[in-house]
Amino acid sequence: MTQTLATQSDAVHLERTLELAARGRGRTSPNPLVGAVVVKQGRPIGEGFHSEPGSPHAELAALADCLEDPDGATLYVSLEPCAHHGRTPPCVDAILAAGIRRVVVASDDPSAKANGRGPELLRAEGVEVEWADAEPAHAARLLNQPFRKHARTGRPLVLLKSALTLDGKVATPAGDSRWISSEASRARVHARRAEVDAVVVGIGTAVADDPLLTARPESGEPARQPRRVVFDSHARLPLNGALARSADKAPVLVLCSPAAPAPAREALAAAGVEVLQTEGADEAARVGEALSALGARGIQSLLLEGGPRLAGAFLDAGEIDEMLAFVAPVLAGGGEARSVLEGRGVESIADARRALAVAVERIGDDTCICARFREW
Ligand SMILES: NC(=O)c1ccc[n+]([C@@H]2O[C@H](COP(=O)([O-])OP(=O)(O)OC[C@H]3O[C@@H](n4cnc5c(N)ncnc54)[C@H](OP(=O)(O)O)[C@@H]3O)[C@@H](O)[C@H]2O)c1
Repeated sequence: MTQTLATQSDAVHLERTLELAARGRGRTSPNPLVGAVVVKQGRPIGEGFHSEPGSPHAELAALADCLEDPDGATLYVSLEPCAHHGRTPPCVDAILAAGIRRVVVASDDPSAKANGRGPELLRAEGVEVEWADAEPAHAARLLNQPFRKHARTGRPLVLLKSALTLDGKVATPAGDSRWISSEASRARVHARRAEVDAVVVGIGTAVADDPLLTARPESGEPARQPRRVVFDSHARLPLNGALARSADKAPVLVLCSPAAPAPAREALAAAGVEVLQTEGADEAARVGEALSALGARGIQSLLLEGGPRLAGAFLDAGEIDEMLAFVAPVLAGGGEARSVLEGRGVESIADARRALAVAVERIGDDTCICARFREW
């Protein structure tokens, strides 16, 4: 894609579209985060963002917000405008009807129905269309990593979360892990759960910790609860556990294999748990199959909360996109204690996955490391 642009004011208005887009975080899936600003004679006259599926797209919201006639104005938008009918009419029609003269787009939409069609149509109608420079374009792509990975691969973006000791352990040999990280770190995890489509654990963790896995952020009840997913080949999820018992309050999905006994599946289904069968030659292959199955159900992002065996299988499958590590200043020791990732791993450090970008934050006494391994 050609990069043109950009004046200083273009950069300022594009940055504003990203701020606006971020306001929809945790509420727009399966749609992307999008923000838009209408600028006339150098002044913003309207702005908007996409707030939830079925609500107006950002471009329409910005045009509706205009305090004066947008005829002849420039529209800044963080994602290319759509040309297709979805739950709402095509944005290009509204842009043309409003008399917008120039459109500045921060990032492309890689989904099959978009993929440059909107900008092409606008150009064909005589609207000047420009693409953002590398930096705002990159920032705009980062906003929509779940949407972009799902559009390109049909699979959700995987964010691995782990609470570990300073010596890299996530549980003692006896399986105890409560609580390695601080209350403030755990509050952060609840906020992240509220932003993703699914929270995932292996059956080992479901049995050892009996977690509830709902999002309980400090900011109050989230817009929606993530789907709680358990990788559980034999449908062993306890019916009297926290997950199965709360299936009527927030959805629970068990991913089992053909080896799961029919009575166990039926008992889970009767308890309100959705049971889905996936296959695969080994654990890593089963991760890939499971991600495709989750993606086919519209799940675009997931928070993988362990444990080590399942997370290791995700790494072996090449499916960890980002990691959020809460490192607590405690030492556990023990050769048999569990580390973050098991699975096959790599033979030489030259083959180890190296992060593309890392951010570090102190949360109380813990150190939170956020590492990005892939960009979509
Ligand atoms: N500190 C932390 O952040 C943290 C987070 C989570 C857990 N933990 C600790 O970790 C321990 C549990 O971890 P774990 O490794 O024993 O269990 P796990 O990773 O939670 O679950 C592993 C099990 O998942 C099932 N599974 C289904 N599909 C799989 C696939 N494709 N790949 C791999 N496994 C698959 C397997 O059982 P089936 O063959 O029966 O399906 C496997 O034994 C607990 O002690 C818990 O407290 C710590």
